[in-house]
Amino acid sequence: MNASSPSPSPARGQASTATLYGGVTNRRVTVRDLAAAKQRGEKWSMLTAYDALTGGVFDEAGIPVLLVGDSAGNCHLGYETTVPVTMDQMVMLSAAVVRGTKRAMIVADMPFGSYQESPAQAMHNAARLMKEAGAGAVKLEGGERSARSIELLVEAGIPVMAHIGLTPQSVHAFGGYPVQGRGDEAAHQLLRDAKAVQQAGAFAVVLEAVPAELAAQVTEELAIPTVGIGAGVDTDAQVLVWTDMAGMTAGRVPKFVKQYANLRAVLGDAAREFAADVSAGAFPAAEHSFS
Ligand code: KIV
Repeated sequence: MNASSPSPSPARGQASTATLYGGVTNRRVTVRDLAAAKQRGEKWSMLTAYDALTGGVFDEAGIPVLLVGDSAGNCHLGYETTVPVTMDQMVMLSAAVVRGTKRAMIVADMPFGSYQESPAQAMHNAARLMKEAGAGAVKLEGGERSARSIELLVEAGIPVMAHIGLTPQSVHAFGGYPVQGRGDEAAHQLLRDAKAVQQAGAFAVVLEAVPAELAAQVTEELAIPTVGIGAGVDTDAQVLVWTDMAGMTAGRVPKFVKQYANLRAVLGDAAREFAADVSAGAFPAAEHSFS
């Protein structure tokens, strides 16, 4: 649905009954809009964004939810994993995405070490993302183990997106990025985690790298939207890391990624052409010069 499609705005304070990006054009997408989308069976998309420029592009394209993921660590800041990302970095990146967008809900990731210590620590750092960055919601990893923190944030009025299955901040404990939820015991644990975060008040839950059938079962059993990444086609929403989706990532991408463009080649070609023009004295031409 196009961001500029004409459709009447709902009464003040009411969630849109039209498609997520086709109804209200004068405010950001809210948790109530996402709950209504699940009710009517509308699937939606989420992309990561790490700056005002790309956030603005995705907002104009009608992506209703943008995640300032701590994947910024490996996709934007040059780290190998998400583990080194700090709160100050997440506040800066999230604020930039908020500034560059008008309609998307901006979800800011809580980085490793910013919430695991205690619910009080989670509250302190989530409040920074809401107050200093202007995020509309926060995301944190963990099911049953994070339920108490989720409950406290939700009680304080902070919308929380949960993240279960493959949780990349635990890369060293997992020994890599293995698919989760395989086998009866692991599948039962994933279901318990999903129900625990819903019970704690999360408005949505990311399911990362889980078998498609299990993700379908979780989606069926939960009232809140599920957001899949490597979780098959039956989740309520799908998220991809934008640099993977647009072909900016160097080298291999995970099996679950579909590349919709090859921006790395396009940008590289543009840079090479610019350098060649400069070497040949072909740039700047007369039309790029002042008299
Ligand atoms: O940080 C991130 O980009 C994420 C997505 C993979 C869901 O958590």
